[in-house]
Amino acid sequence: LRSSWLHIPKRAEPYSQLAQIYDYVMRHVNYSRWAHYLRDLFCEADLEVTNVLDIACGTGNLAIKLCELGFRVAGFDESLGMVEAAKAKARARRPHIPIWRGSMTSFAVKRPVDAIVCTYDSINYCMNESACSKVFERAAEAIRPGGVFVFDICTVKNSRKHFRRYYEKEETDEFRYIRQSYYIANKSIQVNEFYIQWESSPLIHEIHQQKIYRIDEITRIIPSQRFQVLGMYDGFSMKTGSEESDRVHFLLKRV
Ligand SMILES: C[S@@+](CC[C@H](N)C(=O)[O-])C[C@H]1O[C@@H](n2cnc3c(N)ncnc32)[C@H](O)[C@@H]1O
Repeated sequence: LRSSWLHIPKRAEPYSQLAQIYDYVMRHVNYSRWAHYLRDLFCEADLEVTNVLDIACGTGNLAIKLCELGFRVAGFDESLGMVEAAKAKARARRPHIPIWRGSMTSFAVKRPVDAIVCTYDSINYCMNESACSKVFERAAEAIRPGGVFVFDICTVKNSRKHFRRYYEKEETDEFRYIRQSYYIANKSIQVNEFYIQWESSPLIHEIHQQKIYRIDEITRIIPSQRFQVLGMYDGFSMKTGSEESDRVHFLLKRV
């Protein structure tokens, strides 16, 4: 991996190649803490939770941690690469964690679950309000009355403060990558570009786009006849979140 970066990159679908190094790139994320936090939010909703569906589950890190806390977990993700990575890790787990490929805008389940979680600003991949509405409608169908939907968003402040002009370059014995992020303020779009290369393989280029919503925009889309907003919390705390937060977690109760 000593040769130069001067290659013509090959475009790839978001997460199709990143999937293989996602856990390395995200190694700073404490999924155990995240799972405990979600359990605290279930308690906050005064809810007995057995079954959890993790939508946009990525490589399954959170699903596995939730499983270790005693929940019966299943998950799906739109990206085949992420699903394959999740399945490989979940395979040896008992109880079994069913993982499949699916979209959060068009999913259905056989039996309603107690809780749906959608973490790490995955909902920001819904690029317009109509796509967000579909997620809420699908989630409302899939959660039993009294159950909860927990999701989180990145705020405009987060994009402006941390990812307006962000650059990261890493090299291991097996691969190297560059992450370049920027925020298109007039369109409220966060762009994360990844250049990834394995030894003697072509340079891969993935472009990820996320729509950054204000809290009031998201709140307006939540169907009030389906969900009651129990809380909006500042990153991993029980304090009320605001536009000053980097991340806001929403706790919705299915009415
Ligand atoms: C930032 S990752 C988060 C993954 C995981 N939730 C975690 O906490 O590590 C965003 C994930 O959303 C998935 N995703 C994006 N749009 C999706 C959609 N419409 N349906 C399902 N998954 C989607 C991506 O494939 C990716 O795995």
